[in-house]
Amino acid sequence: MYRTHTCGQLNISNLNQEVILSGWVQKVRNKGGMIWVDLRDRYGITQLVFEDGKTNSNIFEIAKTLGREFVIQATATVIEREAKNNKIPTGEIELFVNELQILNTSEVPPFTIEDDTDGGDEIRMKYRYMDLRRNPVKNNLILRHRIGQEVRRYLDDIEFMEIETPYLIKSTPEGARDFVVPSRMHQGEFYALPQSPQTFKQLLMISGYDRYFQIVKCFRDEDLRADRQPEFTQIDCEMAFVEQDDILNTFEGMAKHLFKKVLNYNLPDFIRMPYSEAMEKYGNDKPDLRFDMQINEITELVKGHNFVVFDSVEYIGGICAKNAASYSRKQLDALTKFVQKPQVGAKGLVYVKCNDDGTYKSSVDKFYNQDELAKWAKKFNAEKGDLLLILAGNKNKTLPAISELRLEMARQLNLMDKNKFVPLWVVDFPLLEWDEENNRFHAMHHPFTSPKIEDIPMLDTEPGKVRANAYDMVINGVEIGGGSIRIHNKDMQATMFKHLGFSKEEAEEQFGFLMNAFKYGAPPHGGIALGFDRLVAMFAGTDSIRDVIAFPKNNAGRDVMIDSPSNVATTQLEELGLKIDIQK
Ligand code: AMO
Repeated sequence: MYRTHTCGQLNISNLNQEVILSGWVQKVRNKGGMIWVDLRDRYGITQLVFEDGKTNSNIFEIAKTLGREFVIQATATVIEREAKNNKIPTGEIELFVNELQILNTSEVPPFTIEDDTDGGDEIRMKYRYMDLRRNPVKNNLILRHRIGQEVRRYLDDIEFMEIETPYLIKSTPEGARDFVVPSRMHQGEFYALPQSPQTFKQLLMISGYDRYFQIVKCFRDEDLRADRQPEFTQIDCEMAFVEQDDILNTFEGMAKHLFKKVLNYNLPDFIRMPYSEAMEKYGNDKPDLRFDMQINEITELVKGHNFVVFDSVEYIGGICAKNAASYSRKQLDALTKFVQKPQVGAKGLVYVKCNDDGTYKSSVDKFYNQDELAKWAKKFNAEKGDLLLILAGNKNKTLPAISELRLEMARQLNLMDKNKFVPLWVVDFPLLEWDEENNRFHAMHHPFTSPKIEDIPMLDTEPGKVRANAYDMVINGVEIGGGSIRIHNKDMQATMFKHLGFSKEEAEEQFGFLMNAFKYGAPPHGGIALGFDRLVAMFAGTDSIRDVIAFPKNNAGRDVMIDSPSNVATTQLEELGLKIDIQK
């Protein structure tokens, strides 16, 4: 028997018991006559003690040879500690060792297995199996497990069935590139890994499994960011015989359930904000509502004062940063630099300080007098001590730039409380989005999303204005999930493909199976997918989903531990009928 207890289990109630523990050596303190060893496993740390003269001399000799991360087994008696450690559950006891076995030795690890390690990102990723021994990483995986279990419990209780769908499929149109897998048996042909199980879950609705879910891997070949991995996990769900409200209520319920069960946090009711309002007020379709700082448009108010920058643009608007009038020249210059970064893309920044004495100081004093600036302040509901920050330009570029500025100001003014969660549904997304590169519309969510009935007539006249029955779940400025009510009518789906620029043949080739299935009794249906990694990262209080994935890829999409992607043998390529001539 390797162990009778785990390293997190024993306490004063076990005094004088004979026990066996197995685990890793966290730390050895050798004081000559006394040796203490911290023994660690997934559950905690227990202190072993060896005393020269008292401990069997053979065992004492073995204890002297122990190094960090050795795997050992100790048979021992539980005794009371003299110097108690009330920080850990096992801190009142220690183990007097009667037998000791080295189960395996370890080389000195390349970084310390401590909460605050000396290992940088790259080295920890290369030796991820050791990084996973560290508490912060381990706790994130425990959290991930718990959230997954609570998701299953919640959905199972309301009749959702977990059904697996295939990974070797045909391209799904979620907007990113596919990872493709060559077929050996059908040379020259390829599977695609699913960007999501979208079409399969719709087929399951047609099959009558009216409440489906799956915690499922999805694959997207897209540029990586802190909240994006090439393979990631969705809580993917679909329901039949439902309207949008049914779905929003079900998954608002799930989010509340998870926050309560896992964090003991009472998530407030979700407000529902149309996409257009989110864009106007926050410049963003995933507004962070932990703080207010709404965008105000002042185009009409400020034009016509010989200030060319304002007179020549379509849109002028900004935000009011509370109590920031004390910002120095240097801080304002830094903000100007910030908005001029290519990622933000503004040309410049206009500011107005609302001074404590009731006067205004602005960067455009030459063009606007105190009375005029007072009107601006009124429009922003600004008070003495506040700072107005204003950008100008094309509306569709300026609103997102103000959004970036708003988030930056919130960071600087500490308005993003890590312990506060403010959720909302963003609803009524546009059905179509203009693709400047390819000069055509594409589906903003995906081509199976239904348009709002009242907007259908506009499909031919003003397609960009048609709204969809599509929604996103947003918490603290993070898009946690998205979904829609689907088209379930063959003719409507064909019309949709036509508007997306598919020829009849292309639509038939790619989605014939789905359109065909629509002929055989497709119920009204809709669904949603939540980004599981993003949800767990939010619970864990981290911005990077890599922190909550056991074996993530790095920012360049590589797994540096197993060294992937990598070359394959020429014979493998030949078997697949592939000839690749890449000059590296
Ligand atoms: P969507 O593409 O919006 O919808 O994806 C749903 C959610 O998945 C998460 N997500 C990601 N997480 C990590 N890395 C990525 N690369 C990544 N891409 C997406 C986000 C996102 O909100 N089939 C539809 C859902 C539906 O209509 O039911 C879909 O996949 O949190």
